Amino acid sequence: MRSAIPLLCLLLSLPVQAAGDPKLGKPLHDKQCVACHVKLLGGDGSGMYTRKPRLINNLAALEQRVATCSAQTNAGWFPEEEAHVAAWLNQTYYKFK
Ligand code: HEC
Repeated sequence: MRSAIPLLCLLLSLPVQAAGDPKLGKPLHDKQCVACHVKLLGGDGSGMYTRKPRLINNLAALEQRVATCSAQTNAGWFPEEEAHVAAWLNQTYYKFK
């Protein structure tokens, strides 16, 4: 029985680690991502996330896209930072469940 407790703690902590924090994602996105989208689309660049049809249609695809873009731009982000940016984009624009 005793050995089940650490396992339970681990399971409970996993969702917390996996979820990004939108508040931390916005400054990262502003620094690394927005300029190029603005150059392409004008305005504040948010048209990239609201255009129709959008490229991204679910949360997994969004996380994947953020990871790919951050690799392409040499942002040097850790997976947690990618999760923060994906969380911010989702909260602000995509609103996937
Ligand atoms: C050098 C220019 C450039 C930079 C820098 C850039 N992007 Fe993009 N992004 C693009 C282009 C171009 C597209 C459209 C791709 C397409 O239509 O196939 C795009 C599309 C996207 C989409 C999909 C939009 C949709 O249709 O739903 C997301 C999400 C995205 N970018 C996130 C990011 C993130 C996060 C970063 C920062 C790590 C970033 N981008 C940095 C050029 C850039």
